[in-house]
Amino acid sequence: MTIEIREEITKNGVYKIGRSEIKINENIDNPYVPDSQFYLPVGDDLEKTAWAVSKGLPVILIGETGVGKTLLVRHLAQMTNNGFRRVNLNGMTTVDEFVGKLMINEKGTYWVNGILIDAMESGDWLLIDEINACLPEIAFCLHSLLDDDKMIVLTEYDGRIIKPHPNFRVFASMNPNEDRRYAGTKALNEALLDRFPVSIRMGYLPYEIEVDVVMNQSGNMDKQLVGKMVNVANDVREAIENEKIFCTFSTRRLIDWARMSESFSASESAISTIYGKINEFDAKVIEDIIDNYF
Ligand SMILES: Nc1ncnc2c1ncn2[C@@H]1O[C@H](COP(=O)(O)OP(=O)(O)OP(=O)(O)O)[C@@H](O)[C@H]1O
Ligand SMILES: [Mg+2]
Repeated sequence: MTIEIREEITKNGVYKIGRSEIKINENIDNPYVPDSQFYLPVGDDLEKTAWAVSKGLPVILIGETGVGKTLLVRHLAQMTNNGFRRVNLNGMTTVDEFVGKLMINEKGTYWVNGILIDAMESGDWLLIDEINACLPEIAFCLHSLLDDDKMIVLTEYDGRIIKPHPNFRVFASMNPNEDRRYAGTKALNEALLDRFPVSIRMGYLPYEIEVDVVMNQSGNMDKQLVGKMVNVANDVREAIENEKIFCTFSTRRLIDWARMSESFSASESAISTIYGKINEFDAKVIEDIIDNYF
């Protein structure tokens, strides 16, 4: 049985969850503070992440696509009134975009901050998605940020040393690298992984919570139907686990399927929300599973 861990905001401006507490940021008018979004805490993932935040420690969240990694950090930022920024380090993101670059105009050269320096200076939280796909130059720069001195030297510019604002926090996320289902991702360099003192492994949502989430996010309030869809998802995940098929089946995909099923039958909606995104063989296996329930 899972024990529900309650969140609470105290009168003196502290966010509490289980054994963790974070002082709520008093800074108002930060456009990067996220809007409130429906979120159900699962297990102690949120409590442990909040603990790391309260100690100023970087956290890496590891889990399949759509298990709620981004939403967890976003939710915590929203509850504590902190700015939330995201960057995806798939091979396309360059050091220029991440750290910053020198530009030239008629007056000479000037420096433009990348998202990292911007977040460090403004004290926002930065979620680095797909950290395992980052370029070696970026990994190098993350090393110095994550080391005890927690600073970045802008060697490309004027040698300026950037020390983070006290509210700045780093989070990273990645899909598990035990398998090769995610094209383009590499095993995260051990040295980089070692620099995250807290790692949280996130699994798929428990049945009851997933039904709630899917109903809430899709707007499809047919609990019986959504319950069957979650059963399908869990059977598909088992088939993936047993290496019968090699796609993924996320909560996000379930939400898309449930949303479309308000207007079309579950089987018709599956064609456009599930089969279209996977290979024919996997689609056939999933179709058989769906036929068992609908
Ligand atoms: N605990 C939860 N409470 C409410 N909704 C959730 C929860 N977990 C997942 N979801 C739903 O699943 C969707 C996907 O979650 P999210 O984008 O955080 O996944 P992710 O792990 O970051 O995926 P990716 O690896 O693809 O970036 C969310 O938009 C939300 O609708
Ligand atoms: Mg994400």
